Amino acid sequence: MNGNNEMLIVANWKMGFSHDESLTFVTQNYNGFCYLAKHNKRSIVLCPQFTALFPLHVVLKESAIKLGAQDCSNHARGAFTSQISAQSLKSLNCSYCIVGHSERRKYNGETDLAVAQKTLLLLDHGITPIICIGECSTEFEQGKTLETIENQLKPIHQALAGRCSSSKYSPICIAYEPTWSIGTGKVPSRKHLEVVYSWLHTYTQKTCPGMLWKFLYGGSVTQQSIPEIRKVPYVGGFLVGGASLDFQEFKKIVECIE
Ligand code: PGA
Repeated sequence: MNGNNEMLIVANWKMGFSHDESLTFVTQNYNGFCYLAKHNKRSIVLCPQFTALFPLHVVLKESAIKLGAQDCSNHARGAFTSQISAQSLKSLNCSYCIVGHSERRKYNGETDLAVAQKTLLLLDHGITPIICIGECSTEFEQGKTLETIENQLKPIHQALAGRCSSSKYSPICIAYEPTWSIGTGKVPSRKHLEVVYSWLHTYTQKTCPGMLWKFLYGGSVTQQSIPEIRKVPYVGGFLVGGASLDFQEFKKIVECIE
């Protein structure tokens, strides 16, 4: 994981690139990605589909670009057809893994408990979890953002109880991604973000003070939205979805963050 004063920029390709397209995209933009990742004040993480992790690990071996998975199993091993273990991700050189993305919660019934179990397995394997949390539009309109994210985080803090002072269980990334902002072009106001990130800071210091936490923002991150969001205190990075599928757009976003 990068140092805590460095910006973490995570490209979540979702299912936007096929296996072949992921390889072509990286090969064609290899020098550009290396240039972006060379900066000592930021880390770039690419999260392709599972199948592309191994070939990309080979392609990126000599570079500073990091690899991340989009999910992992909440079981260590066993009869869990189709699932991918944290241990396998480790052997593919994944440094990061997204868990609890709202699309997984919505389409795959991902629960807060499963997210907590995945978080522990990842930490056990030295992989930094990127835990996605965030409210839906109704919760936002009803002013229930903090209540929602606290409920999402509670099982994680319970799972981490007793481990908070172990450096083995640190660092952890939390990505605040209001679901109403994902892929919609809508971004929360700076005032709203300031409340959320300051709450996240206080909450994690209170519940797990010994750990290193990094807070990311995700949801319609573009070169237009980023200048305002990056001014919010405690925002240590970004989870970029749609805009990360276009190298020029991604590059402009990364360059705005400096
Ligand atoms: P978006 O997606 O940038 O396309 O809104 C972000 C995410 O879902 O991580």
